[in-house]
Amino acid sequence: MEIETQRLILRKPRLSDWEDIVEGAGALDVSKRTMNIPHPYGSSDAEWYINDSIKNWAKDSYAFVVELKTEKKVIGVLALTGINLFNGTATTGSWINRKYWRNGYITEAKIAVNDFAFDTLKLRRLTSTVNSANTASNATQQKVGYVFEGVQRKASKSKATGKICDLNFYGLLKEDWKKARKSLLTLGA
Ligand SMILES: CC(C)(COP(=O)(O)OP(=O)(O)OC[C@H]1O[C@@H](n2cnc3c(N)ncnc32)[C@H](O)[C@@H]1OP(=O)(O)O)[C@@H](O)C(=O)NCCC(=O)NCCS
Repeated sequence: MEIETQRLILRKPRLSDWEDIVEGAGALDVSKRTMNIPHPYGSSDAEWYINDSIKNWAKDSYAFVVELKTEKKVIGVLALTGINLFNGTATTGSWINRKYWRNGYITEAKIAVNDFAFDTLKLRRLTSTVNSANTASNATQQKVGYVFEGVQRKASKSKATGKICDLNFYGLLKEDWKKARKSLLTLGA
């Protein structure tokens, strides 16, 4: 299972991706904004993540690595996890290597993965949970049509910094996505 977009390939992780994953997820600028990435982050962390993603691939998750075609380099991860086909739901999580921020890469990847989730997997709803203080991630959810559904106070502790944070909950229904997709493509995203 591989998805190709204009600039990216979204695919199953390989063990050889470990160096790119350490470079991206190992930066505190990235891990401190997520809930599950520890700091420091080394080769054994990346190997564990890759093996776990391969083991669960197409079972209850698709943890796509985001490969930049021009550099043949993994610049991030966009994961669909906790896929429940009976319930029609899944959760998403993502990061992009610091050096590649603000180029529209997560937007491009999310458009493709949302299509996959709703059209191929036939899901009804995606959920995304974001540190309330994470400006970029809150903005990216809203850009692709996620609806803010509420905040849980002091709900999470960062594995990278130990800091406690509030969590914003976002939901994207299939019908939200159909609407957002149209306006994103009109804007040329
Ligand atoms: C969140 C993250 C994945 C965004 O990736 P990206 O490829 O840089 O995002 P995009 O370039 O597609 O940006 C999409 C929109 O988000 C907003 N945005 C992105 N970065 C932003 C920033 N630093 N400040 C404010 N808004 C930002 C903008 O509205 C942008 O749209 P625009 O460029 O048309 O204005 C990236 O910043 C990241 O990896 N952060 C650290 C890890 C993280 O927070 N992961 C999510 C955990 S829930």
